[in-house]
Amino acid sequence: MQNFEYRNPVKIVFGKGTIGKLSDLITKDKKILLAYGGGSIKKNGVYDQVVKALKGYSVVEFAGIEPNPQYDTCMRAVKVVKDEKIDFILSVGGGSVLDAVKFIAAAAKFEGPESWDILTKNAKIKSAVPLGCVLTLPATGSEMNTNAVISRSKTGEKLAFSSEQVSPVFSILDPETTYSLPESQVANGVVDAFVHVMEQYMTYDVNSPVQDRFAEGILKTLIEEGQKVMTDPKNYEVRANIMWAATMALNGLIGQGVPQDWATHMIGHELTALYNIDHARTLAIIMPAVWKHQRQQKGAKLAQYARRVWDVQTSDDNKAIDAAIQKTIDFFRGLDIPTTLGDVDLTPEDCKKAVEQLRNRGSKLGERGIITAKQVEEIFSLAA
Ligand code: NZQ
Ligand code: ZN
Repeated sequence: MQNFEYRNPVKIVFGKGTIGKLSDLITKDKKILLAYGGGSIKKNGVYDQVVKALKGYSVVEFAGIEPNPQYDTCMRAVKVVKDEKIDFILSVGGGSVLDAVKFIAAAAKFEGPESWDILTKNAKIKSAVPLGCVLTLPATGSEMNTNAVISRSKTGEKLAFSSEQVSPVFSILDPETTYSLPESQVANGVVDAFVHVMEQYMTYDVNSPVQDRFAEGILKTLIEEGQKVMTDPKNYEVRANIMWAATMALNGLIGQGVPQDWATHMIGHELTALYNIDHARTLAIIMPAVWKHQRQQKGAKLAQYARRVWDVQTSDDNKAIDAAIQKTIDFFRGLDIPTTLGDVDLTPEDCKKAVEQLRNRGSKLGERGIITAKQVEEIFSLAA
């Protein structure tokens, strides 16, 4: 196992009826920015629960944060934070609202010339406005990590940053808030969480059985519960298990002391930036192609995954790997998620611009840093 340092300070408040606990989590003297998206929280009763819990607080609202949150929208919110002297930001919604809130919190205190530098130049974040979240979509793990992904349509970029300063103070996870999700977003969430585990698992062995078996447990849970939620969407236990699995998939725990990949995510982000394809769908298209391309390098782990997660019973590693790749694709397709470029009406030719973006950035992706623009081109061909 590799050396590591790990701290995760996020307080998780999990379960039915927990939104009412907001008043225990934020002190009354705080002036709050209540940030949310396109209005789903007004239809499913989450907004009403939040407003009720925040009775007596000074609250300013900021609505309209879009999926794949935009830099310009965030900068409008930064102005509100400064003008209104906000001292706590509450995100109510999915990963997009929360990622935007993390960026807003950092940009409001940023001293550099342009806040976009946080994303392009890895500019150091010395402080941020404290933030918390009420999560309504299990997928990103943003509720218990230090990451955020922000897009800029003007330049066709979608970039990530990470800072301990934007770790949420608390995250409320009430699985009942997820009943109102459209089926497609439920499936997206299961697939995104599944791929998060893979980015930290499907690499090479460093003798880390705790991380491996935690990862395999989350994968098995997502496969089982992901199938159940499609036929039994009102089942609270299933919703709860998916929500906790998605948080555990990317709260840092399973990634400690092990090599990490993230090539699928980096390539996927380019497809979302270019063609506005949902994040999880880009991952389901790219990951099987990355595995096929990196079959040699990932072979031992692919075979382990086949046997431990899919219970493939063969002593032939090659057959086990073929079976595991196919079973993964079938699992995604069973959730009605596309798994090829053709499924979303794209060709490898259409992805040339994504290759160029990665080439311009000098990207060296994957756990060994050996996937450059040339290999990405080959991966797009395998994803056709
Ligand atoms: O905007 P509203 O009206 O709230 O509607 C949203 C949005 O249209 C809707 N929704 C959310 N909760 C709902 C609901 N509709 C009905 N009932 C509910 N309970 O769902 C739509 C999608 O929401 P979004 O927040 O965009 O989805 P998700 O949570 O999947 O977040 C995706 C974003 O997270 C980034 C992605 O790149 C993408 O920008 N990621 C962030 C990561 C992180 N911070 O660690 C890691 C991930 O890999 C990912 O890259
Ligand atoms: Zn993701």
